[in-house]
Amino acid sequence: MTFCVPPLSGKDEVPRKQGVKSRLASLGQNLTREVNDMVKIDQVELGEFPLLLAPMEDVSDPPFRALCKVQGCDMMYTEFISVEGLIRDAHKSVQKLDIYEEERPIGIQIFGAEIDSMRRAAEIVEEAQPEVLDINYGCPVKKVVCKMAGAGILQDIDRMVKLTDAIVKSTNLPVTVKTRLGWDDKTMFIEEVAERLQDVGIKALSIHGRTRKQMYKGEADWTLIGKIKENPRIHIPIFGNGDIDSPQKAKLYRERYGVDGIMIGRASIGYPWIFREIKHYFATGEILPPPTVEERVAAARQHLNHSIEWKGLKLGVLEMRRHYTNYFRGFPHIKPYRKELVTVHDPAVLHNVLDQIQERYSMHEQTTLV
Ligand SMILES: Cc1cc2nc3c(=O)[nH]c(=O)nc-3n(C[C@H](O)[C@H](O)[C@H](O)COP(=O)(O)O)c2cc1C
Repeated sequence: MTFCVPPLSGKDEVPRKQGVKSRLASLGQNLTREVNDMVKIDQVELGEFPLLLAPMEDVSDPPFRALCKVQGCDMMYTEFISVEGLIRDAHKSVQKLDIYEEERPIGIQIFGAEIDSMRRAAEIVEEAQPEVLDINYGCPVKKVVCKMAGAGILQDIDRMVKLTDAIVKSTNLPVTVKTRLGWDDKTMFIEEVAERLQDVGIKALSIHGRTRKQMYKGEADWTLIGKIKENPRIHIPIFGNGDIDSPQKAKLYRERYGVDGIMIGRASIGYPWIFREIKHYFATGEILPPPTVEERVAAARQHLNHSIEWKGLKLGVLEMRRHYTNYFRGFPHIKPYRKELVTVHDPAVLHNVLDQIQERYSMHEQTTLV
């Protein structure tokens, strides 16, 4: 099965890259930390300051990733894949291995707890030929952590290091890790974790600035992420993650914590334009206007079409339901349209509702939606 990511249209094009130092200097800003011109995960070149799409279960599937790619996302990850599911050939797990040429570079993310299963899953992942194999040590969900998978392993750093070592040795792919600051506020060992995981050969580390105990509550704290960047022993890229939802915040955190790139999750859901907005702001210091109603409707339409293509009619329509609210967030009196979008099964009717949204809200765009 193929679906193509359309080429960048003139309108969507992200500004041509220039040296980070000269770009920031031209904006009259001082970078207090050293900035490398090119961020690389092993041999995979990601540009000067990559924006990464966070792995998100039920969200970062191929239809959604295609939308983010067009908007300038530099690297993305699949939804997390259970290694136990993979080695048992479970359909849901295997389907998540689907990756497309247009979305490269991409990392396939796995989670699990047992060395043997992880090794076998790594072999399966290697056959799918992603650029990177990513290990999830950050998922806070109870049924995952109670098996010592995901963030569960933050309770036993020795075990985490041993497991990672085994995976690195068992695959030819560059291995990266995504994790949290620690299990709770008394065990925020991320600085030690970064050194030890680097020592066993991981090629990049993404850190969500919360503990497992916090789940998604409170504000992400990037202080320790910044400290890791100050550690002269650390030479792998460190990607900051947590609560980036605007170009201004991306710039502030980039400068304050000196990270090599930023990983964005929730702010991209129903709003893939976040990538182009951040890129544009970095390059010019200007805030782009928000996407038009036409762009939002076109994105929802493409998302729906690709979901059906990738998951089949029934599931494609059903699973698209969780996304409509986000595409049309803030639209006044959207409720009746949304209600139809989340109850109708026939794609033709769904497209008709999208037509109606476009017609109604385009008229009010200049006044109501600003
Ligand atoms: C719906 C949803 C699904 C997620 N699934 C995953 C996952 O599969 N793997 C993972 O490492 N993190 C997962 N996360 C965590 C995100 O990757 C990210 O670390 C977190 O949302 C914080 O970043 P943000 O503030 O930019 O959203 C998920 C988050 C959300 C909201």
